[in-house]
Amino acid sequence: MSSIPIEGFGLGLRVEHYQALGEALDPALRPQWLEIISENYLVPGGKPLHHLERLRRDYPVVMHGVSLSIGSADPLDLAYLHELRALADRVEPGWVSDHLCWGGVDHRRLHDLLPLPYTETTLRHLLPRIAQVQELLGRPLVLENVSSYVRYAQDEMGEAEFIAALLQRSGAELLLDVNNVYVSSRNHGFDARAFIDAMSAARVRQIHLAGHEDLGELVIDTHDHPVCDAVWDLYAYTLQRLGPVPTMIERDDDIPPLPVLLQELDQARQLARRTLAGWREAA
Ligand SMILES: [Fe+2]
Repeated sequence: MSSIPIEGFGLGLRVEHYQALGEALDPALRPQWLEIISENYLVPGGKPLHHLERLRRDYPVVMHGVSLSIGSADPLDLAYLHELRALADRVEPGWVSDHLCWGGVDHRRLHDLLPLPYTETTLRHLLPRIAQVQELLGRPLVLENVSSYVRYAQDEMGEAEFIAALLQRSGAELLLDVNNVYVSSRNHGFDARAFIDAMSAARVRQIHLAGHEDLGELVIDTHDHPVCDAVWDLYAYTLQRLGPVPTMIERDDDIPPLPVLLQELDQARQLARRTLAGWREAA
């Protein structure tokens, strides 16, 4: 299955910006692509799909799901996967992503992106499920590291080691959420830069940037703030290590007008320009 090339800087498509994104935007600030939440566009003939098809004429799109629940003990939801495939065939995304998590068990959805135990048993549970998803979608699956607040007593390795092993053994790719790395590193006391060091540039397909709520002892991944300085620093470090990676800002709550988000996206663009100039010289 061919997929469209995606590069540069994108935005998560939100209803609040349907109109503004359809208007003429400053070419220097315009997002180069949009990420859609797949579940919002699965109903054929719905209004959201109408808006998406209109915007799709002007923007390449990537698909980002929230309900795959790849790590659950329940069988994969085949009806959902067939709907996802139909949407992918329709919008021809650069890639299809979801989260490296579980979101329910015993056919009950918890509507949360819960971390997995980092064990060999979990790896062996995930491998055939990822293969099945990739076959049904006809494309590689891109999985995102989640932010977390708990760890399991059963953990046999750290999150970075677990993800690196999973990517290497499954053929899946990584949506590296730099904010999630930061949030989890603060909550669990690990070294965020060491986490980035463990990732292979060849397997990182996309980067997410977002804001969070910092309560001191606890950092909560709220997506309702601008990206903070510590996450900008970690993003610069990530680019130094990995080179250029398509990057977008996720804002899900307290959503500002589009020009405000485009300015924040331009901060990412300018930071990447400065950082990667050095990276190219060092390479
Ligand atoms: Fe994310």
